[in-house]
Amino acid sequence: MADTSPLLIAPSILSADFAAMGEEVAAATRAGADWLHIDIMDGHFVPNLTFGPPMVRALRPHSHLPFDVHLMIEPADPLLEAFAAAGADHIHVHVEGNPHVHRSLQTIRALGKKAGVAICPATPPEAVSYLLDLADVILVMTVNPGFGGQRFLESQLPKIRTLREMVTASKRDIVIGVDGGVDPLVMPLAAAAGANMFVSGTAVFGQADYATAIAHLRQAGAGVPN
Ligand code: DX5
Ligand code: ZN
Repeated sequence: MADTSPLLIAPSILSADFAAMGEEVAAATRAGADWLHIDIMDGHFVPNLTFGPPMVRALRPHSHLPFDVHLMIEPADPLLEAFAAAGADHIHVHVEGNPHVHRSLQTIRALGKKAGVAICPATPPEAVSYLLDLADVILVMTVNPGFGGQRFLESQLPKIRTLREMVTASKRDIVIGVDGGVDPLVMPLAAAAGANMFVSGTAVFGQADYATAIAHLRQAGAGVPN
């Protein structure tokens, strides 16, 4: 994965102003985000609804950053092509709710996009063992998916450590992301466990100054006091 920064910060637009999404995405881009995280919820896999490919397409002209599209939908396969065509750069599918997730990752790769596999808090790290040859990103849910503003689950830290060992052993350049409850206090814990991508909704879009918020997250993850 091409990046110039060791720690990637991906603001989640779930916590942005839905009535001004284009400007919010542009503002996060100017503020120093690395990726933009876009949460797609279907009211079925998760108990909440957000938006679909038309929103991704509408936002595309507002940022040059990679669009990191997290599909909390079941099934995901019928919509992979639509999200790719709309402008997604990375597409994450959950191992839960997608019985043929290996094929889903193959499809995402065939569409020319980075393939991400997402795992819920109750799912063990071994669930991705046989996906490491295809995954570009592993997205570790550190809350139960569906809502922003929840508390980071510290129970997921050993899982992140195990996944980092698995990725190192695979000799593949796989990004390990954490998603949910990430704030400057959580950053050093998740980074020390082996995460190198950090999704954050509330701790960016819930703050008055996005550039300061992103800088605080980055510094906290790098062990620099705020
Ligand atoms: C939760 C979403 C997250 C969420 C994170 O289902 O996948 O991306 O937006 O929001 P915060 O950072 O507020 O926990
Ligand atoms: Zn997400």
